[in-house]
Amino acid sequence: MDNLALKLDAITAEKSGVLRLTLTDFRNYQFLRINAELCPIIITGENGCGKTNILEAISFLTPGRGLRSAKLSDIRRITPALVSDEYSPTEISSLNWAVSAQVQNNEDVIEIGTAVEKSARETEDDSIRSFERRIVKINGVKISSQAELGKYISANWLTPQMDRLFRGGSQPRRSFLDRLVYAFDLEHAKRTANFEHLYKEWYQLIKNGINDTKWLSSLEENMATIGVAIAAARREQIAKLNSFIEHEPDDIFPNVILELDGSIEKLLDKMPAVEVEDFYRNLLFKQRRNVLYNDSVDGINRTDFKVYYKKKRMPAELCSTGEQKSLLISIILAQTKCQTLYQGFAPVLLLDEVAAHLDDIKREALLEKIRALKVQAWITATDPELFSSLKNESQFICIKNGKIF
Ligand SMILES: Nc1ncnc2c1ncn2[C@@H]1O[C@H](COP(=O)(O)OP(=O)(O)OP(=O)(O)O)[C@@H](O)[C@H]1O
Ligand SMILES: [Mg+2]
Repeated sequence: MDNLALKLDAITAEKSGVLRLTLTDFRNYQFLRINAELCPIIITGENGCGKTNILEAISFLTPGRGLRSAKLSDIRRITPALVSDEYSPTEISSLNWAVSAQVQNNEDVIEIGTAVEKSARETEDDSIRSFERRIVKINGVKISSQAELGKYISANWLTPQMDRLFRGGSQPRRSFLDRLVYAFDLEHAKRTANFEHLYKEWYQLIKNGINDTKWLSSLEENMATIGVAIAAARREQIAKLNSFIEHEPDDIFPNVILELDGSIEKLLDKMPAVEVEDFYRNLLFKQRRNVLYNDSVDGINRTDFKVYYKKKRMPAELCSTGEQKSLLISIILAQTKCQTLYQGFAPVLLLDEVAAHLDDIKREALLEKIRALKVQAWITATDPELFSSLKNESQFICIKNGKIF
């Protein structure tokens, strides 16, 4: 065994992952409990039975909006009574969803719970508006920042929606990139959420014609500082992954070159961060008029993430569907190994319909790699036969009518 394999082996010998998962009023589940083993878990069942919903629930054990980037209100279980004309708001609030889990992190076992909390806020016109937010508890204690979750569990996922990641607009690629960063830099989740919040406020002020120079300048100052920190963290992560892939090329999945395409990230090559902050603050100031005229606003909110098939020197968006899937798998595998080494515990893999578009050789190679990495991988499939080579070392769960069958 080479050096890297030995190191990975030493870390994954102490297992990490979800031991018990409980869903309450979550999507199509009124109540579901899964006692999980720290091995590949193959979830099977017909279309619409709730396989992806289980993966989504696990993704809520990590910061953010989960693997579907869903609105919190969409997750609450809709029952026939609620979609009829007669539903009452009290009935809706009684159906607030929750996910709880017992998580193993090397030798520690931690209880994580997440749910929505309703609050009321006074608006500028003195009316009361209710809003929902996701709260998280670790060992029964409410935490102030979701970033804290990253100390105990992290997850990397691949979903069928991501098959189009390289071809569509840049927003999903940016989210993908930022998730790669979260795993290494717990503050990154907080920073991106803060930036988004400040940006919305700044945009609305200008759009509503509130020309409060002090207020706008203070927002621009904060956005520039946080924005440059975001750009720097993205650059660092891309460099880390590129270097890892170069030194540890995969034998089956195509090796990739990752590149950032963003004005602020590029400036960090040329000048110190404090000067980039000044530049960014000025850029935002000058772009106030872009908001008024509905022109795009340049900055870290427009950064793109480019991927190349290294051997073919081909941009990912020009690769075939199966090749694009393989490129994504390459990135996820490199990230998983890198993360295991860096944080000292293995992330959970959430692989939704991962066999789609993969030929038999690639599918079997992926399963072999999951086996070798010894990570807990939650894999959904309508056809369990595709995963028969994992039969003796996996847990198979069949779902029917919202229950384990
Ligand atoms: N808020 C909700 N309340 C109740 N049911 C919901 C809610 N959101 C989604 N669903 C339902 O959950 C069901 C299961 O969805 P899910 O995407 O998990 O299925 P799946 O098993 O992954 O199917 P496929 O094999 O087609 O991917 C769907 O029928 C969907 O309509
Ligand atoms: Mg599904």
